[in-house]
Amino acid sequence: MNKEIILCYDILSKVYFEKAYASIELNKVLNASVNKALVTKVVYGVLEQDIYLDFCVHSCVKKEPKPQILLLLKMATYMSKNISGIPLYALTNECVELAKKYADKYVAGFVNATIKNLSKTEFKLPNKSVDYAKYLSVKYSYPKWYVDYLLSVHDKGFVESLLAFKPTTDTHIRVIKQPNCDINTSTDEFVKNLEKFGIRYQKSALYFTMYVDYNKLLEYTELKDYYVVQGLPSIITALSVGAEHNDKVLDCTSAPGGKACLIAGLDNTIRVTACDLHIHRVALIKKYASSLKLNNVIPLVADATKFDEKWQDTFDRVLCDVPCSGMGVVTKKPDILLNRSMSDVNELVGLQYQILCNNSKYVKHGGTLVYSTCSIIDKENEGIIQKFLKSHSDFKLVSIDTHKINVSNNGNMYTFYPHLTQTEGFFIAKLERL
Ligand SMILES: C[S@@+](CC[C@H](N)C(=O)[O-])C[C@H]1O[C@@H](n2cnc3c(N)ncnc32)[C@H](O)[C@@H]1O
Repeated sequence: MNKEIILCYDILSKVYFEKAYASIELNKVLNASVNKALVTKVVYGVLEQDIYLDFCVHSCVKKEPKPQILLLLKMATYMSKNISGIPLYALTNECVELAKKYADKYVAGFVNATIKNLSKTEFKLPNKSVDYAKYLSVKYSYPKWYVDYLLSVHDKGFVESLLAFKPTTDTHIRVIKQPNCDINTSTDEFVKNLEKFGIRYQKSALYFTMYVDYNKLLEYTELKDYYVVQGLPSIITALSVGAEHNDKVLDCTSAPGGKACLIAGLDNTIRVTACDLHIHRVALIKKYASSLKLNNVIPLVADATKFDEKWQDTFDRVLCDVPCSGMGVVTKKPDILLNRSMSDVNELVGLQYQILCNNSKYVKHGGTLVYSTCSIIDKENEGIIQKFLKSHSDFKLVSIDTHKINVSNNGNMYTFYPHLTQTEGFFIAKLERL
């Protein structure tokens, strides 16, 4: 059997049926003896097109297939339409063998016939004038609840451009600049090395940030200490905290520590208390900080919803980069879409508000509080801030530097819509305590 097809199905099964993360499963199994590019393309391709593929399969079958067989048919449909170099008979044979192994031998004929049918059918999208939300949902493979939500807030053209947006496949990095710390390099020096080794790159909004061909960059281990992978909105959030010499900063939901470490690296007199609820996640902050040789990050297990009297009015800056639906980063992590629903969002909103209210108490008078999410759903963003301001008259919204990115600014509440910013979706609000 073709080992790549088996591997793809194995990884996808873990993601669909055991809620595993695609990126972690891919990292575990991708060794030199498999076609890494092919497996990655198929796994992410099936996840990205899940709803469309589901629509195709259901257009071709009369009876609901078992979940394992449905997944197999989705994978076969994706591969027959997007992967050249595997003849249809070979793909069909491999899938039939997988069906026998993971379901039962009686489905072999059904799988065989359905794959042939799926591969030659030209699928017609749902009629847009009958149900526009369904049409968009199938065409761009986003859940109907999300499309309905977007259409209730934005106009049709905006929603279609947002859903159609595909980000660059290059990875965003920042060159490490840590004055007073051991690790330091100049961006010019780093770029010279990229050019010397022929690594594709494109500068982004800040002088030390860029998109790179990450697989190629990984080959040059001599460069590994001089950059970290971090999205542009995440970098802008950390900078908008505005930490200065001698500041005491609290990052109350900090793991894996990307923002905390950027803040700590700005100046080694800044002290960042970096908390997370889960001990294994606090270990990630420790690892991140020590890989950057930062000794001014204090990792701590703490529940951001619980008030700690000793911290009241003591921090110059507080960051609440709260747990969120992640709907702003689905183009990079399409597996999020499989298990997300509006009821999750409604649950998260309660937690987000609680975290913001609790941690606002730790901000000194004259200090600042930054709230951020990797979501573009208003309830998690402006909704939280507006509610907070109604009962916290000692806070006011202030502006941040958006580095000329085309961010939507509603009274100092900043939303990064991917198709406008060319970044992942994000939200940032900065508040000052009077
Ligand atoms: C969006 S992530 C933070 C990302 C991080 N700021 C960074 O830049 O690397 C949210 C984090 O909040 C943590 N979390 C969830 N509930 C929490 C709680 N009640 N108290 C503290 N941390 C919590 C999660 O474990 C998760 O690591």
